[in-house]
Amino acid sequence: MHDQTLRAPVRTLAAVLLGIAIALIVAPAAMAEEGGGLPHVSVNIHDQASLQRGARLFMNYCVGCHSLKYLRYSQMADGLGLTEKQVMDNLNFTGAKFGAPILSAMPEADAEKWFGKAPPDLSLEISAKGSDWVAAYLKSFYLDPKTASGWNNTVFPNVAMPFPLWQLQGEQVPVLGKAENGEPAPVESLSLAHPGSMTPAQYDQAVRDLTAFLTYVSTPDALERSHIGAWVVLYLVLFTLFALVLKKEYWKDVH
Ligand code: HEC
Repeated sequence: MHDQTLRAPVRTLAAVLLGIAIALIVAPAAMAEEGGGLPHVSVNIHDQASLQRGARLFMNYCVGCHSLKYLRYSQMADGLGLTEKQVMDNLNFTGAKFGAPILSAMPEADAEKWFGKAPPDLSLEISAKGSDWVAAYLKSFYLDPKTASGWNNTVFPNVAMPFPLWQLQGEQVPVLGKAENGEPAPVESLSLAHPGSMTPAQYDQAVRDLTAFLTYVSTPDALERSHIGAWVVLYLVLFTLFALVLKKEYWKDVH
């Protein structure tokens, strides 16, 4: 009898604990997935060569419209292991000072007039959308005569951005599915109608480099943090040892 009454609450408690444990395991995994079914792209912000190639692509193809206002050229030099001269000669085409933030030369009002939308600052783009989304977006432009720019995008339908990397990737065209209920035929996949200067594998790598660079831009302190991390752990270990010794010392007198 006594046993019976106890068992139910114990079982409930066990179920709740199990639920919490599962939530703790599943939630971070679900959050890490972020892309919502988009293919996962592995970027490595500790690969300096990849970051440098990504920065070069950004400065050649993106900074004309997009700013990285939370990052200074000087900070980027530190993060990417480049000298001031290397950055000023190869990665700064706007004439900005070395200590200045990376700003687009295009006035926002003009951009809005030309594209109908101002190109957003991309400093925090990866934090907002995730690296999988950005990589997929850069691979999903296709020719569409119905849009103002002549380009459309399966990841960002009717995007106002003209595809800046078409010479590298080439021109994709949509493979349409069946039109139903008077709706326009859905885009099922994209096919490369005219190859660009890069092979698909080279273009994948370029997108990975660009995405790695933007990931670094979203979290420039991450590079430094991973160095500091080891010291923090060492400090905590030493502090714990110290606290244990101290505790022993105090209790000796009490006993
Ligand atoms: C000619 C101007 C122009 C260039 C060059 C350009 N973009 Fe854009 N970009 C835009 C505009 C305009 C938008 C806003 C699109 C919209 O909201 O419909 C945009 C939007 C974006 C977005 C989506 C932002 C969001 O979350 O809403 C990303 C990511 C992006 N651009 C990345 C890039 C990258 C990377 C490059 C360089 C390879 C680049 N862009 C080059 C004009 C440009």
